[in-house]
Amino acid sequence: MATIVEFKNYSMGFRDDDGTVYNLLDRISFRVEEGKALGVVGESGCGKSMTSLSMMRLLPDGAVVQGGEILMEGKNILDMSGQEMQALRGNKLSMIFQEPMTALNPVLTIGQQIGEILTLHHPELKKQEVRSRVLEALEEVGIAHPETRIDQYPHEFSGGMRQRVMIAMAVINHPALLIADEPTTALDVTIQAQILDVMRRLKKASGGLMVITHNLGVVAEICEEVVVMYAGQAIERGTLKAIFDNPIHPYTQGLMASVPTIRSEKKPLYTIPGTVPTVYDFVPGCRFADRCQHCGERCMKEVPPMRQAGEDHLVQCWRSDDR
Ligand SMILES: Nc1ncnc2c1ncn2[C@@H]1O[C@H](COP(=O)(O)OP(=O)(O)O)[C@@H](O)[C@H]1O
Ligand SMILES: [Mg+2]
Repeated sequence: MATIVEFKNYSMGFRDDDGTVYNLLDRISFRVEEGKALGVVGESGCGKSMTSLSMMRLLPDGAVVQGGEILMEGKNILDMSGQEMQALRGNKLSMIFQEPMTALNPVLTIGQQIGEILTLHHPELKKQEVRSRVLEALEEVGIAHPETRIDQYPHEFSGGMRQRVMIAMAVINHPALLIADEPTTALDVTIQAQILDVMRRLKKASGGLMVITHNLGVVAEICEEVVVMYAGQAIERGTLKAIFDNPIHPYTQGLMASVPTIRSEKKPLYTIPGTVPTVYDFVPGCRFADRCQHCGERCMKEVPPMRQAGEDHLVQCWRSDDR
């Protein structure tokens, strides 16, 4: 099976005013395969967005790459020129942002705005081809009556429908990899079925999908592979079945226990005590150590090695020794 993107021991951090670099992403490794969806899960502040922004080479000021590789179809994104990156973004590599940065232009029709992204990367397309591709994209994201909608302006769309237009923009070039960062917050729809419907469409419209979310229900329905992130470390990864049926890291177990089920509706949900530390407070060992009920002396001092826990299952926890 073809690998679309692969993180290999990738590390990044932030430089403070004195020039000291504080590490956030710590040697993370994972891959997205063609035709599959990878779910990246973890609480807020765990480095999920920095992971996706690293791939787009859109890290904020002060961020520094510390090592490793991000391979896109075998080529290291970190070595690409600005020009190569521009050709990649919005084309082979596309992202739906947590907070959409690109607002829609009020004076252009939806069709003009989506069409612009298509012709930017495919200037050879004829007007009629552009129009039919845009209609196709509107249909792909579940916008009814695309023939009418294509000539309308943003103010004629509801908030939820505008979000779908943004999604159509992200998939118009059928990206090799589509990154959806917290799409459920951006979609602003309360109905799980609608979220799932859009996610399934996104999966079809792209070569591979990376879904960043804290909605484990979405992960269970859409993804084949899962990476669990905690404080910048990819502490457990594997197939959906491995992670959901047999979570090994105490953090993953905590996340699973805090998912609402039909039966648990009446009793309060489990919450993992404590909060995610910031880059200035990381311990040298396992960054989850101070919240972990199984924490031993070694956990605070040494980062556990990534160990094979099953055929398609890896975990970074000292306790996995004892199992
Ligand atoms: N300029 C910065 N300086 C230091 N740390 C930062 C800076 N920007 C972000 N961070 C750190 O990055 C983390 C947030 O990462 P992010 O990828 O946004 O997390 P997530 O998307 O999982 O919520 C925070 O824990 C914060 O400590
Ligand atoms: Mg985020």
